Amino acid sequence: MQIIIANDQHIQYAQEICHTIDESAKQRGTGIAKRTPEYITTKIQNGNAVIALEGDKFAGFCYIETWGHGKYVANSGLIVHPDFRGQGLGRKIKKKVFQHSREKFPDAKIFGITTGLPVMKINYDLGYEPVTFSELTDDPSFWNGCKTCKNFDILTRNEGKMCLCTGMLYDPAVKKHKHKHKYDSKVFTRLKNIKQSLFLKKEKKKQDK
Ligand SMILES: CC(C)(COP(=O)(O)OP(=O)(O)OC[C@H]1O[C@@H](n2cnc3c(N)ncnc32)[C@H](O)[C@@H]1OP(=O)(O)O)[C@@H](O)C(=O)NCCC(=O)NCCS
Repeated sequence: MQIIIANDQHIQYAQEICHTIDESAKQRGTGIAKRTPEYITTKIQNGNAVIALEGDKFAGFCYIETWGHGKYVANSGLIVHPDFRGQGLGRKIKKKVFQHSREKFPDAKIFGITTGLPVMKINYDLGYEPVTFSELTDDPSFWNGCKTCKNFDILTRNEGKMCLCTGMLYDPAVKKHKHKHKYDSKVFTRLKNIKQSLFLKKEKKKQDK
């Protein structure tokens, strides 16, 4: 398996990457910001993406976005093809894109928003901390990306302060990135369940009216 910084040779995979992201979102039934093949192509051309290939078969992908004039960087669109899941590939891709982000944008804060427990675990192990949305970028173009997510009205109703996603941040200015506690799956699972019952119940009541 190769995990490399994507280049022009990999533009041919843009369509398949988008398709795999869309299909996974449908299956999980959770919201996700929509990506177009053109957008993925730009990321590849700018050297801001990591691709995993098994021979010439697409196995996984993730890309870098910059916000707030480079003060913030997000590692987004992590996807592992269903044939390669549960074998540690997601963790390896995330590590590679994280290292690439640190080299290319050493002073930027690295953040992500996700509902995915595997991603929360990987981020936590890389030194990210869960934070409120107010600690993330206030660049409207980042939050506009949420408009294509099916939960966007929950974010709007909460005035952009909360949603089903959990915000996580790696701040390079913080000297120590070793957590006092090991990742506790119960804490993150409980947080996710609380949010879901809180926000989705309200949503259902509104629909029933
Ligand atoms: C999320 C995804 C990228 C993970 O890729 P993967 O290759 O299967 O993940 P890995 O095998 O590297 O596992 C990562 C960690 O998450 C853990 N994990 C997996 N499923 C989990 C779950 N449901 N709850 C908690 N942790 C979980 C694994 O045990 C592993 O931890 P470990 O290395 O300490 O054992 C992949 O499932 C995927 O593409 N899903 C669809 C798209 C998606 O959800 N993207 C994230 C958008 S933010």
